[in-house]
Amino acid sequence: MPRIQFIAADGSEEFIDAVVGLSLMENAVSNGIEAIRAVCGGNAYCGTCRVYVDPAWRAVTGEVTEMELPLIEATDDTTPGVRLACQIPVTPALDGLIVRTPLSQE
Ligand code: FES
Repeated sequence: MPRIQFIAADGSEEFIDAVVGLSLMENAVSNGIEAIRAVCGGNAYCGTCRVYVDPAWRAVTGEVTEMELPLIEATDDTTPGVRLACQIPVTPALDGLIVRTPLSQE
């Protein structure tokens, strides 16, 4: 199981053992990562599952997809590495992934 680190806006850290085949959002929610609200349940509609992918991992997770872009722009979140966690499938290659979460998902 890939081990993934979430760093909250206050600097607190949580680690999860993620299930391959589920999205990063699904893994975060099922492991109680509170900063991931995921109001729309993973349909790329709410923008409340935003994470900031650590620079060292952006080539592995990939860049913002065309599906994500309009929603991310609508949130006015221009933080480097911003992605929708519901659009990041967890694969074995993500073992060690580090993501940060926003102070607010509004
Ligand atoms: S869960 Fe709603 S956009 Fe990701």
